[in-house]
Formats: sequence, C-alpha cells, structure tokens
Amino acid sequence: DPVEKIAAVGGSRHPNIPLPKDLFGAWRNSEGVDLQDIDILAETVSAVNQTRLPGEGRGRAASGSKLDPGLRRGGSEDLVGRAAAAFPAWSAAPVEDRAAILERLADLLEEHRTELMAYAVKEAYKSLADAVGEVREAADFCRYYAMRAREDLATITLPGPTGERNAMRLEGRGVWATVAPWNFPLAIFLGQCAAALVTGNTVVAKPAPQTPGIAARAVALAHDAGVPEDALILAPGGPEVGAALVADTRVAGVAFTGSTATAKKIARALLDDDARPIVPLIAETGGINAMIVDSTALPEQVVADVLTSAYRSAGQRCSALRLLLLQEEIADGVIEMLSGAMDLLTIGDPADPRTDVGPVIDQTAYDRLMTYRESAKDRWIKTVAAPATGHFVPPTLIRLDDMDSLTSEFFGPILHVATWKAGALADTVARVNAKGYGLTMGLHSRIARSGEVVEAMARVGNLYVNRSMIGAVVGSQPFGGEGLSGTGPKAGGPHYLPRFCAERAVSVDT
Ligand code: NAD
Ligand code: ALA
Repeated sequence: DPVEKIAAVGGSRHPNIPLPKDLFGAWRNSEGVDLQDIDILAETVSAVNQTRLPGEGRGRAASGSKLDPGLRRGGSEDLVGRAAAAFPAWSAAPVEDRAAILERLADLLEEHRTELMAYAVKEAYKSLADAVGEVREAADFCRYYAMRAREDLATITLPGPTGERNAMRLEGRGVWATVAPWNFPLAIFLGQCAAALVTGNTVVAKPAPQTPGIAARAVALAHDAGVPEDALILAPGGPEVGAALVADTRVAGVAFTGSTATAKKIARALLDDDARPIVPLIAETGGINAMIVDSTALPEQVVADVLTSAYRSAGQRCSALRLLLLQEEIADGVIEMLSGAMDLLTIGDPADPRTDVGPVIDQTAYDRLMTYRESAKDRWIKTVAAPATGHFVPPTLIRLDDMDSLTSEFFGPILHVATWKAGALADTVARVNAKGYGLTMGLHSRIARSGEVVEAMARVGNLYVNRSMIGAVVGSQPFGGEGLSGTGPKAGGPHYLPRFCAERAVSVDT
C-alpha cells in the first residue's frame, strides 16, 4: 500500500502544514503517478523530511535576498565577466560534446530524482505527482535539446550560382541571462539553461527567490555532467538581481519566464541604453486561458478536465484554466456536476500522496488571491473547505455575468465561469482573443466544424480539444504563447534553439 510505505518513512513533515495527516486513508489521487513510482515517492517524502533549504530558519525572503549576487562589473564577484571569459572555449567545443553533456545531465537528474523531487515539494510546495513531472520534464528538455542541436547547428551548404561556395550555420551569441519563475523551479529553470548552453552560449542563471535550493542542485549536477563552472553560473536572488543582470550590457540575450508585467520591464530595460547592442528577449508569460464547452460535449469528461486544468498544482501553472465558457443550455448541469466533484478534492499537505491541491507559493500570493476571492464573494458558485493554517486558498468557482470583465490573470485555484448563446461560438472565440493574451485555450465539442472554427480563429500558442489544458509534453506539444503571453519561440519545440543563436553566412569565391 503506497500510503503505508510513505507512513513507514515517517510520514510527511512539511513545514507549511499544521499537522501530519492520517496517512492510512484510501489511495485516490493517482493522476500522473505511476504505481512503479511509489518507492520513489516514499524515498522522496523521507528526503523532504531531511532536506534543509538555503537559509532555512531565516524565512524565505532571507534565503533569496541574502545571497550576494556579485553581479556588478568590477564587483567582488563579476558573474557576467566570468561567463564572458568562458564563452570562447565553450562555443568552440563541437556541438556533439555539448549535446553529450546535456544527455549526461539528463541521466544525473534521473539518478538524483528523489532529492530533486524533495526540493520541489519543500521549496515550491509541488504535489508528489507534480514533482515527478518536474524531474521528467527537466530531463526531457535536456535530451530533446541535445537531439535538436545536432541537427540545428549543422552547417548548411547553399547554392552558389556564380561559382562561389556558400554556407551558413548557427552559433552561440555570448552570455545569456536566464530568469526563471518558481512554479517550474527545475524544468523551466534548467530548460532555459540547457537551450542556451547546447547552442554554445554561456549562462548566468537567476532562479526565483522562492526556489534557490533546487536551482543550486541543478547547476551542481550540470557541472558534474561536464558543463564548465564558468559556463553556467548561478545568480540567486530576487527582482533586484534579475534587474541588475539584464541591465548588464555584456549580456547578449535574455530568456525570461514569469509574469507579463516583469517581461515588459525587462523589454524596456534592454532598450534603455542607446549604446547597447540590440539583444534578443525570449519572454514566456501568463495568460487568461479559456475553455469553451458546447452542448455536444461529454459532461463527465468536461468536469474531469476542468478540475485538472483549473485546480491541479493549485492553479499555479501559466497554462491553467481561468475562464470556463459554457453554452447556456448545458451550463446548469455542468456547474452542478463540477460543484459535486469539487467537494471530492483533497486539500492539504503536498507531500501526502492523496493531496489534490496544496498551498500556494507564499503569503504574498495568498493575500492577493484571498483579497480578490473575498471581493467576489457575492458571485461565488462553489468553494470548498481548506486548512486554516498555511497558505491554502480554497478552490473556488466564481460566476461572471460578462466574460469580458475578466482582464487579469489570478495565479491560483480560482476559476471563473460565464455562458455563451448557441450560434455565438465565433463571437466567443473573438472575445477571448480580445483579452490580448494568447497562451492556452480549450474546446470541448463533438462537432468537427466547431473544432475547425476554433482552430482557425484562436490566437493562442496551445489549443487543446477534448482534453485538459495543462501538461504540455516536450517534443510533442511545444509550449508557449503570443500577444501578452510572450514572444515565442515555443519551449520544447523545433524552433526554440535557433533563437539562442547568431546566424552566420560565409561566401567564398572559388
Ligand atoms: P515574476 O515575473 O514575478 O518573476 C519571475 C522571475 O523574474 C523571478 O525570478 C523574479 O525574481 C524575476 N524578476 C522580477 N522582477 C524582475 C526585473 N525587474 N528584472 C529581472 N527579473 C525580474 O513571476 P512569478 O510570480 O515568479 O511567476 C508566475 C508568473 O509566471 C505567472 O504570470 C505565470 O503565468 C508565468 N509563467 C509563464 C510560463 C510560460 O511558459 N508562459 C511558465 C511558468 C510561469
Ligand atoms: N508547460 C506547462 C504546462 O503545459 C506550463 O502545464
């Protein structure tokens, strides 16, 4: 029994949880967790209990801000300068060597998975199922970018109609600054680094201030795999470290994932200095993601996919469902089923395998979400009880009388629902597009023509039909949006690596 196995290692003693729960209930939440992972989960819970985070005991803010970033030119530790000095040798290495190092790193991530999963649970409050996914996705990014680099960085011979020899190739640009969010503290953090490194760049990598421990382990494993120490340098800290890093005029490119507001600040900062070269910014940001459901959809499947899309990971995925748009005729029935299903959600300790919804990331996020939720109290359709101690935001369903009134991303387990009238499918898609974001969209319908209409009209990076809207798979579902949701290219897709590169064409008169 998986629950007994976990109990046998001492149960969960997660710091943000008031009391260890009774671990001997039913094994219910198996989504995303293979039974063969159970031993790993038990080891992970044991590791959660043993892991000490950077700055533990001093509180989270301290763990992020007291680590000296040393970013300034001429400062005690010039991180960008060190990465710049490492660039010539690393970029001159054969792409095969860099790709092989990423593949070794993927192996090391898997070898160290329980330790990494423990960090994901303890620092980011990931559920065990999400922690499994975190390590798998990070390893997938490494292997996928290794495979792509061998192809993308090969020299291309071009026609020479007047007798000259023409060729072109991609190569590294210099030092990339990578800036990551806390919600995928391993997969996104390392995905950015892996792409920049395999294309021949060196990297100064800033993790989110909430998750420095898992990032430090990832960087150490990358060094163990063969990445030279100065080719990948960790710059822990908060927004001030990120701002100093992107303002450094020696930085040749920035890969950012986080909020739309921060992406805009970075874009402005990169243009601030007239003397600075124009450098690329890859920004992957938030969304107001909608799922459109028509009267032909299967209600049971809709409810299951809505629960997963809106409430898994406590709604803290950029891809998560924020706005459920039900065709009027089926709205009451779907809402009733959904409300019943919400009663079955288990909210609690992320290190308990039965947990569906854990805490949100910190007090600031909790306060923002709870303030908003409270302000919408007269429109609550459904909410469920959550532990009173810790940052638990109760999963909530909020009615919108006008779907256009939702204009901000609320990054947590809060779902809005509005209705649309038969015959207004195209108008509904247009109204979602008009919000200006463009990350994920869902459609539940058994009418093929409706699928065609939505596919033709939706201005989103990832459209999901008759399934959930989260959990894009590297190499199969390249992920990323447009408009206020980001610049592209898509992570885990075939066009990602070239954006980290300079393109060089050489013509030789023979
Ligand atoms: P955030 O924008 O507050 O922070 C992201 C990172 O930027 C952190 O490392 C932070 O320290 C740093 N930062 C903040 N201000 C900065 C500045 N002025 N200059 C440089 N760096 C700065 O976002 P968050 O709260 O950590 O993450 C949640 C957001 O990320 C949500 O909006 C979510 O939708 C988005 N997200 C998007 C994707 C995607 O792939 N599109 C994936 C995950 C998360
Ligand atoms: N790539 C993540 C997902 O699809 C954000 O859920």
